Parts: sequence; structure tokens; C-alpha cells
Amino acid sequence: MSITSQAELRGIRKVSEAVATTLRKMRAHAQPGMSTQELDEYGGRVLKAMGAKSAPQVCYGFPGWTCISVNHEIAHGIPSPHKVLQEGDLVNIDVSAVLNGFWADNGGSFVLGPDKYHYKPLVKASRQILYKAIHQIRGGVKIAAIGKLMETEAKKAGFKVIKNLAGHGVGRSLHEEPLEILNCYDPHNRKRFKKNMVVAVETFIATDSTFAREEKDGWTLVGNRGGFVAQHEHTIIVTDGKPVILTASNEIWH
Ligand code: CO
Ligand code: CO
Repeated sequence: MSITSQAELRGIRKVSEAVATTLRKMRAHAQPGMSTQELDEYGGRVLKAMGAKSAPQVCYGFPGWTCISVNHEIAHGIPSPHKVLQEGDLVNIDVSAVLNGFWADNGGSFVLGPDKYHYKPLVKASRQILYKAIHQIRGGVKIAAIGKLMETEAKKAGFKVIKNLAGHGVGRSLHEEPLEILNCYDPHNRKRFKKNMVVAVETFIATDSTFAREEKDGWTLVGNRGGFVAQHEHTIIVTDGKPVILTASNEIWH
């Protein structure tokens, strides 16, 4: 969406606050020994308390409130009583929600407890690349230029990017124009960011894989060449200068 009034600004701010709070509280709540279903149900209660509904549930009938993807899972991991979090796991939580007709999207990867398997450099690179990309976005900047920046920065840090997942416009629905805010350079994408546009920018930084494929459960995404992927995502408003990071009431972790 493009913000055209104070009422729209208030609406998008409120739902962004709801997803950001849910994400922050879920991360603080996550513990070794807890199932991803328990963590998800906690997140569902936080969303409900703020009057928000789970976007993947409303849009796609997703079997959970939030997406929780652990270790080799890239995204859209289904919360399950059989998936029990362990110390050192690479965990990604992605929270998207709708409130009063406004939609926002916020996600982040982190290591649960001590970094037993050395995922931290990947997580740190993903987070830094997200902020670097966001700080380059303003009205008139080509979407393809941001993809190029993300891919170049990932390469510099010794990583790859997932080429078939993307950030997207958001606000009046979960996914709206522009739909292809890729992590790589797409010479055919001539679109530009515009002032007042609301977009969800997200990284998919990978150790080995360059494409995501769906598991047999019909939801979970994994890499085509295995390894691990870190994702960080903020909903922002594009301006003439620095963007407004709507989901930054919490920083996305270190
Ligand atoms: Co998301
Ligand atoms: Co998104």
C-alpha cells in the first residue's frame, strides 16, 4: 500500500507494533525443551491479546499462528508438538498479522542459547545485510539495485542467497505489489521504490543452497543443496530519506 492519510499511518503502525511485540516476546520465551507448538501457542496468545489475527492462518489456512523454522528448515516451518527446541538450534520465527484491515510482517533468525554449531556468523551477516539494504531504500531507488546489494554483501561475507524467495509490498494484504524484492540482481525488474510505499524487506542468506524447495508436508521450505539459511525481515515505509522501520520497536537481535 501507499500511505495517503494519518488514519492509514495509525493503522499500519498498530499492526506493525503487534507483530514486533509478538516476535520479541516469542524469542524471549523460547527455551530448550519447549516444542515449537508450545512456542507458537504462546505467540498466538500475544497476537490475540493485541486484537490481531495470524496472517498465514487467515490467508492460507496455515496450521499454526506463526512460522517457526528450525535448523535445515528455511521458512514456513509448521509448529509441532514433536519438534522440541534444543540448545544451539538455529531458529527462525516469522510473525505476520492483520489488525483492522492492515497487515504487517516481521521475522528473525537466532541461535537458541550457546552457539554450539557456529551459526552466529550466518545470523549476523543476515541481520547486517537487512539493515544495509533498508538504509539504501528511498523513493526512486531501483528494486533490482537492492537485490544486487544483498547478493554482493552476502558474497563478501562468504555466503549465498536464496533466489526464489522475496520481500514484498504489504499493508492492505499480506503480499502485494511490488511482489519481487529479491535478494539477487534481476536485470528485468525495472520497478522502483516509491515514497510512502509500505514494503516488507527480507533476507535469505545461505551457507550452501541458492533455491528453496517445498517439503512433502506442503509448507516447509528447505534448501536445494542443504546447509542453513538465516532470515531477517522488517516492514518499512519508504520516504525521501531514511525509511521508517515500523517493526523496529524491537531491534532484530544480535
Ligand atoms: Co515474514
Ligand atoms: Co514477508
